[in-house]
Order: sequence, then structure tokens, then C-alpha cells
Amino acid sequence: MTARQVAVDLQALSESGDYYNTALDLYDRGSRRIQRLSEWVDENLPALAESISSGLREDEELTVLSVGPGEGDSDRRILSHLRGRAHPKIRAVIMEPDSHMMRQYQDLVSKESAKLQDVDFDWRQQTFQEYQATAKEEDKFHFISSFSSIYYCGDLEKSLKYLYEKLHCGGILVVALMAGEGGFGRLWQHLRQTLGMTIDFFTSTDVEHACRNQNIPIAEIQTISIQCDISSCFDPPQQLTQDGNILLDFLTHTVNFAQNAPAEYRDDVLRFLGSEACSKTGPAGEAIFNGFDAAVIIRKQ
Ligand SMILES: C[S@@+](CC[C@H](N)C(=O)[O-])C[C@H]1O[C@@H](n2cnc3c(N)ncnc32)[C@H](O)[C@@H]1O
Repeated sequence: MTARQVAVDLQALSESGDYYNTALDLYDRGSRRIQRLSEWVDENLPALAESISSGLREDEELTVLSVGPGEGDSDRRILSHLRGRAHPKIRAVIMEPDSHMMRQYQDLVSKESAKLQDVDFDWRQQTFQEYQATAKEEDKFHFISSFSSIYYCGDLEKSLKYLYEKLHCGGILVVALMAGEGGFGRLWQHLRQTLGMTIDFFTSTDVEHACRNQNIPIAEIQTISIQCDISSCFDPPQQLTQDGNILLDFLTHTVNFAQNAPAEYRDDVLRFLGSEACSKTGPAGEAIFNGFDAAVIIRKQ
């Protein structure tokens, strides 16, 4: 069996509907991904907000676009930092296609009304593609965030170009996604090179290339340290727990990897996953996956 045939036999996780959300949820809980992103926002937004505010007139409204904020854990923090440091008057366009997540975000906003008062929310239950079709040409933003959502926006170069063009001069776009030089980036590179598998997800390396190709200036790339105990993936395939199976599927972005990948390929992937390229050994001998994210910070010149 050739590497290409291996790829044909494995279903992509992104095409698995609800199962994708189950796998993401398990990974999020194990890695505290959302908390780590929120911490990154708290550490970095004050300086970014300051730099935006210095270019604004006092009576000018600060405009913000959130792309796929989910339940709003990171994005409402961004808004409260911008409101605190940058400007009293903020208009925030919230582009979130999932009605359930949008309601959760709205509930959070009403619970935290003191921190977000004076923010004028414009809720759009739309995909990126639908937003593009309806947005006015003259709508521009001082701050745009896309946290773990750029994967779903279609062609990467076109999405980044569109978002860059939506920035005011001096405005900032932050794209947070899996780091090319982290466990996901390296594992997927290995899956592509050795198994010929197609992984339909981007990393920060792809964003760097896309920006370079289009002369979009990257001001800075910061690594967000996210780690996850993946020891449960290394049990013998027949004895894998349900969580071990799901986690392995999330890491490889396939469905039923342990059962469906031919043994020699599965063993090769597990060896690579447990190696220093992707993981380190914890104090009790556990396998800790380096699932780093990267925050790519782009400033409109
Ligand atoms: C992995 S979640 C990330 C949520 C949140 N930003 C976070 O970091 O936790 C991906 C988000 O992108 C949204 N999304 C999915 N497809 C999208 C699309 N075509 N356009 C815009 N957002 C999309 C999802 O509804 C979800 O809110």
C-alpha cells in the first residue's frame, strides 16, 4: 500500500461534523487552550491598545471586528482592554456563524455589562464568506481578531488580504493559530511528507508565507505556550480508552486513526508524536504534547 492510498482510507476530522467539536472540546479541556489564550490577551492587549489609542482623535469611535469569537472568552477580554486603555467609545462587529456560541457570548456580555458598558455591539450571525458578501466597502477597523478561526475562512491568502484591507492605517490584526514550529505543525508536516496525507488546516508558517507573498507586513509573531498530556494515546491500539482515541484523532486530524491507519504507519506516527519533535516527558513520565499556538500581529502601514 502506498502513502497516497493511506490518505484515501482516512477521513478528515474537519468533515466529521459533531465529532470534530467533541475532539476539539476534549483537547481544549486537556490543554487549557482557552485559558492560555485569555492569559495572552491580558498580557499583551494593554500595549497593543495603547499603540492604537495614540493614533486616534479623542472623539473618534474605535471600531473592532471579531472573526469567529465562539463563546467570546478571548474577544470580550480584548474589548475590555481596548475600552480601558484605548477609548471610551467602541463599536464591535461580532461575526459568529454558530447561533449557540453567539448566544453564549451575548449572555457573557450581559453578565459583564459593567466592564463592557459603552461598547456598541453589532451581532452578525454570519460566516466570513457571508460577511464579505454583505459588508460595506467603507467599513474599516482599528482592531481585528481571528483566534483559532482563520482555518475556516477559505483561501488563506485571500482571507488575510481582505482582513488587512479592512484595517484603518495604524490598525492591528491579530491572527492566533497553531504554530508551525509546534507539535501540530511538525506532526502534520510529518504526516504530509511520509504518508502523503492532506491536512486541511493552516499553521503560522502558512500565514507567514501568505503574508510574504502579498507584501503584508508582520510586526511580530509570539508563541503561546499550550501543552497537553497525551499519554492516553500511547496505550496499545486495542486497549485505547475512548478519550485516548479521540485525542489521537484530534492530533492527526483524522477519524479513527488508531483503527484505520495500517499498523506500520500508525506506529511510525506514534513514534514521531512521542519524540522531541512534538512532545516532552513530564515529571511523572507522562507524554506532554507541545501544542503551541502563535499570535501573528500585523499592523497596517
Ligand atoms: C475553534 S473555534 C474558536 C473560537 C474562539 N475564537 C476560541 O479561540 O476559542 C472556531 C470558531 O470559528 C467559527 N467559524 C467556523 N466557520 C467559520 C466561518 N466560515 N467564518 C467565520 N467563523 C467561523 C466557529 O463558529 C467558532 O466560533
